[in-house]
Amino acid sequence: MTFTQYYKPDDMSASVPEHLQTDEDLQQQIMDINLLYSAAIREVSTKLDVLGDDFRMKHSYVPIHHMQSRLKSFESLMDKAERYGIEDPIHNLDTVRAEVFDIAGIRVVCNYREDIYTMSELLLKQSDVDLIKIKDYCKNPKPSGYRSLHVVISIPVFLVNSKTTVPVEIQFRSIAMDTWASLEHELKYKNKGALTEDIQKQLTQCAKTLSDVDEQMERIRHQVF
Ligand code: GTP
Ligand code: MG
Repeated sequence: MTFTQYYKPDDMSASVPEHLQTDEDLQQQIMDINLLYSAAIREVSTKLDVLGDDFRMKHSYVPIHHMQSRLKSFESLMDKAERYGIEDPIHNLDTVRAEVFDIAGIRVVCNYREDIYTMSELLLKQSDVDLIKIKDYCKNPKPSGYRSLHVVISIPVFLVNSKTTVPVEIQFRSIAMDTWASLEHELKYKNKGALTEDIQKQLTQCAKTLSDVDEQMERIRHQVF
């Protein structure tokens, strides 16, 4: 038997502004968020892992190519809360938690486009999983060309003395969709968010080309199996 180290997401309190690090009540609230949301990431990742394993046993095929997860940093959580118009978010963390659904985020990269729907449906069928919202940018791509299925679910997390329902945002994508989103994000980030209209147009065209390839690969798959 091999023992693997349990993956634990980053410590959120690492990004708390220095002048607030002496506020004990705030520290406790941030530690609670860190514990709950990182636990929720592990719960949902395990569910998806188990589904993948069972799929392999039953169909000799694994629909998930790979998964990534992240806990939003405190700094980026506060930035988002301000964009959402929440006043004094640092002292209103309950409101922040009620309105920001992607504190816990998981990205599920599937081999084929149809695997996205297979995996998301299997997850949503589970009795302890509740759907909060779903946005299908595969069927309705963003103007940029971005494609993915965004699903926000909530699941219960059990602690020593409590049970809390925690939201988790899951982005389901095909490998081709992930290729585009990763490279486009990198290009935007490197250019500080400003890409010319012409570059954006070229990127949107690339997204369309990759989507055509996805469709073609799916057809080939059906011919082979
Ligand atoms: P915000 O999360 O506040 O933006 O609102 P929202 O939940 O309505 O946003 P959305 O459904 O667009 O999901 C946002 C996430 O999707 C981002 O953090 C990215 O991971 C991804 N995303 C959305 N649009 C794009 C895009 O054009 N390019 C890339 N690379 N990623 C995108
Ligand atoms: Mg979002």
